[in-house]
Amino acid sequence: MKILKVVVIGSGTMGSGIAAQVANAGLQVHLLDLTNEIATNACERIKNSRPPLLMKENNLNNIIPGSIENDLETLKDADWVVEAVVERIDIKKQLYSKIDTLRKKAAIVSSNTSSIPLKVLTEDMSDDMKKVFCITHFFNPVRYMRLLELVIGPQNDKEKINDLAKFADKTLGKTVVLCNDSPGFLGNRVGVYTMQVAMTEAFNLELSVEEADAVFGRPLGIPKTGIFGLYDLIGIDLMSDVLKSFIRELPLNDPFHEVGKELPIIKSLIKDGYTGRKGKGGFFRINKSSGLKILESLNYKNHTYQESKKVDLQLPEVMNVNEVLERKDVFGKYAWLIIKKSILYASNLVPDVTENFNDIDDAMKCGFNWSKGPFEILNDIGIKNFVSRLDKDETIPPFINKLLDQNKSLFKTSQNSLEYFHPKHTYLPMKRPTGVISLSDIKKSSTPIFTNQSTSIWEVHGKSRFICVEFHTKANALDSLTNDCLLAAYDLCYKKKYDGIVIANDAMQFSAGVNLNYFYNKAVEKKFKDIDIFLNNFQQSLHRLQHAKFPVVSCPSGLAIGGGYEVVSQTSFVAAHSNSVLGLVEPIVGLIPAGGGCKEMLRRWSNHPKIINNPKLLSLKVFNLIGYATTSDSPIKAKTQKFLNDQDTIVMSRDRLIEEADNIIFTKKENYIPIETASLSLPGQTVMSEMEDILNELKDKKIIGEHGLEVGKKLAYMLSGAETSSSTMLTEQNLYNLEREIFIDLIKQKPTQERIRHTLDTGKPLFN
Ligand code: NAI
Repeated sequence: MKILKVVVIGSGTMGSGIAAQVANAGLQVHLLDLTNEIATNACERIKNSRPPLLMKENNLNNIIPGSIENDLETLKDADWVVEAVVERIDIKKQLYSKIDTLRKKAAIVSSNTSSIPLKVLTEDMSDDMKKVFCITHFFNPVRYMRLLELVIGPQNDKEKINDLAKFADKTLGKTVVLCNDSPGFLGNRVGVYTMQVAMTEAFNLELSVEEADAVFGRPLGIPKTGIFGLYDLIGIDLMSDVLKSFIRELPLNDPFHEVGKELPIIKSLIKDGYTGRKGKGGFFRINKSSGLKILESLNYKNHTYQESKKVDLQLPEVMNVNEVLERKDVFGKYAWLIIKKSILYASNLVPDVTENFNDIDDAMKCGFNWSKGPFEILNDIGIKNFVSRLDKDETIPPFINKLLDQNKSLFKTSQNSLEYFHPKHTYLPMKRPTGVISLSDIKKSSTPIFTNQSTSIWEVHGKSRFICVEFHTKANALDSLTNDCLLAAYDLCYKKKYDGIVIANDAMQFSAGVNLNYFYNKAVEKKFKDIDIFLNNFQQSLHRLQHAKFPVVSCPSGLAIGGGYEVVSQTSFVAAHSNSVLGLVEPIVGLIPAGGGCKEMLRRWSNHPKIINNPKLLSLKVFNLIGYATTSDSPIKAKTQKFLNDQDTIVMSRDRLIEEADNIIFTKKENYIPIETASLSLPGQTVMSEMEDILNELKDKKIIGEHGLEVGKKLAYMLSGAETSSSTMLTEQNLYNLEREIFIDLIKQKPTQERIRHTLDTGKPLFN
C-alpha cells in the first residue's frame, strides 16, 4: 500500500511537527484540531518556527487546516491517520471510535502517545481496527529528531506495519525502531532513567551544574547541554509529568524508582515559575536586570543564582569514555556512576523489553543524540573490564552474565559483515533496512585502510567499490591531518582503482569548518607562512578531488559551513541530507573563505543565465552572499543560493546518505568525464565603488563596525578580482592565490584575532 494522503489530528507541538514533515515529503496533509482557528494558528507557528520545521516555506501549502467537527470526513480517503491530541485516554478513545466509523479499511491509524500503553489504547477498539492500529512515537522537533519508535502488538497486520515503516524511513527520513508495548518504549525508558541518574548523582557528589554538564556532555558523547541544560530545554514541568507517568507504569522493583521521585528543588522551581527556557529560567537563567544579558546558574544548595562560569576540567574534547573513567577524581567517579547505571539498566531490558540490544543503541543515538549507545560504550570499555569495576554486591544483569559465561563479545565479524550477540541465537547478522549502508556498522566490522587522529578511510563494498573518508574531530573541524587524509584518499583511489570516493561521517555535524584554534595560535606566534602553507595544501587537495578522473561524492548532514562547505562544494557530486546547513561564514570571524570558497562561488554564479557575460553582476552577487555570511538551513534553499547545484541529490533519511552516494558512483563511474578547470573574467576596480557604497551604508546603519568595514573591503577586493579587468581571464590558481593573500592580510590584524578568540571562548560572534 502506498501512503499518499495523511490526516493528523491534534495540531499542538507534535501534530504540527508531524504534519510539517509530511508536507516536506511533498504529500498533502490535513491537520485537524478542536477548531479550525487552532489548526490555522498551528500553521502560522509552523511557518515561523525556529529552527524551521519546513524545508521551504511553500511546503505550508501542503498542509490543510481544519476542525474535527467539520472536517473529520477528510479521513475517509486517508491512507494514514495520526492522532496527536492531548495525553488523555478518554479523549483519545472517543476519537478512535469516530475514526473507526469513517476510516478507509486499508488505512493505517496510529497514536503519538508517549506514555499510554498500546493495550490500553486498543482495549475498546473493534478487532478490525486493532489490526491497523499502532503507536508512532515521534520525537520533538520532528523534522530534526531522527528516531521513530513504532510500537506494535501481536494483533497487528505485519504487512501494514511494514508499509508504514518503509514510508517513515524513505519518505519521512526517520530511523524506525520497532518496540514492544512496554512503558517508555526504548528511548525514553533508558534516556529519562539516565537523565535522572545524572541529576541525582550530581546532587550526591555536590557538583555545580556547570561541572555536571561539562562531564555529562561531549566527553561522554552526549550533547553539550549536559543534564541541567537539557532539563531546562525540555521544560522542568514537562519532565516532572514524564517522571510521574513512569512511576505509575513501572513495576516497583524497577531501579527507576530509586531516581525518579520528584525532588524538593524541582517542586520549588516549578512553583516559582522556573520551568526552564520557556519560563523564567531553571538551572540556568538569563539575567537582564543590569541592561546586559548575563547567563546565571543555580546554586541548588541555597537556591540562589550567580554568574555562570565556564569550567575547564581538562576533559577530552571528543567522546572518550575510557579517558574520563580513568580519572581518579570526583569527575571520573561521576562519569562512572552514570555510565555504569545506564549500562546496567539497559542490559536488564534485554531480552524482556527487546531481544536486540542494538535497538536500544539506535534509540539513544537517534532520539537523544548520543554519539554511541550504552552497549557501544560497553563494547569500548570491554565487558570484563566493566564487570571488574562493579562493586562486589552489585547484581550483574543476566544478559551480561551470558556474555561472560560464553566468553563472547557484543559484536563480531563474519565474512566481512557485522553480527551481534543475541541471547537466544548467539549471533545474528546486523539487520538494516534494505539498501542502507551504515558507516557505524562498517567501523565495527573492519579496520580503516588509512587513519590519523582526525580522520579515517574505510573500504566499502556496495553496488560499487569505493572508499569513505570520515572526519572525527570535535565538530569535525578540519586541520592539516584532514589534508593528509584527502590526499591519501586521492592516491588510494587512483592507485588501487576504486570506483570513487565518498566523504561522509556519522557525527552530528559534517564539519563546522577549519579548526580556528590552529589559525589563532599561528597568528599569535606570527607564523603566517605556516598558515599560507596550510591553506595552499587545503586548496590543492580539494582541487585534485574536484577534477579527479573518478567521481567524488560528499554527504553533508548537520553543519557543513566554512571550510566544511568548501569541501562539499569542491566534490563532483553531493548527496545532501534534508536537514543539512550549508554556507560560508568566514566574515563572522573577520576572515574570507580561502579554501577555494570564493573561487567556487564565483565559478558557480558565472554560469547563471542572468549573470553570464556580466562580470560586475557576478562580483556583486557573490559579494552579497559571502559578505552576509549566508547559510541555507535546507538543501532546497541551498540550491537557490548555488551552495548546491541543481543536479545534487537531497536525501530525507540520514541513514541513506552513503547508499545514495554509492548509487551515484555506480551510475557515473563508467565513462566519467572529470570537471574541467574554470577561467573567469572579473571586473576589477570598476565595481569597487559600488561595493564600498554598500559597506558604508551598513556602517552608517551600525550593522557593521570599523573592522567589519575593513573585512568587507578586502572581500570586495577579492571578489572583484583585484588588479584585473573584464578582458582578462583569471585561472582558478589566480583566485586561490588571491584568497590566500587576503586571508593572511586579515589574520595579521588584531581585531580579526580578537574576533577569533571571542568565538573560540564563547561560541558567539563579536561584531567590531
Ligand atoms: P500539545 O498540548 O502541544 O497539543 C495537543 C493538541 O491537542 C492541542 O492542539 C489541543 O487543542 C488538541 N486537543 C485537545 N483536545 C482535543 C480533542 N478532543 N480533539 C482534538 N484535539 C484536541 O501536546 P503535544 O506535546 O503535541 O502532545 C501530543 C501527543 O504527543 C501526546 O499524546 C503526547 O504524549 C505525545 N508526545 C509528545 C511529545 C513532546 O515532546 N511534546 C513527544 C512525543 C510524544
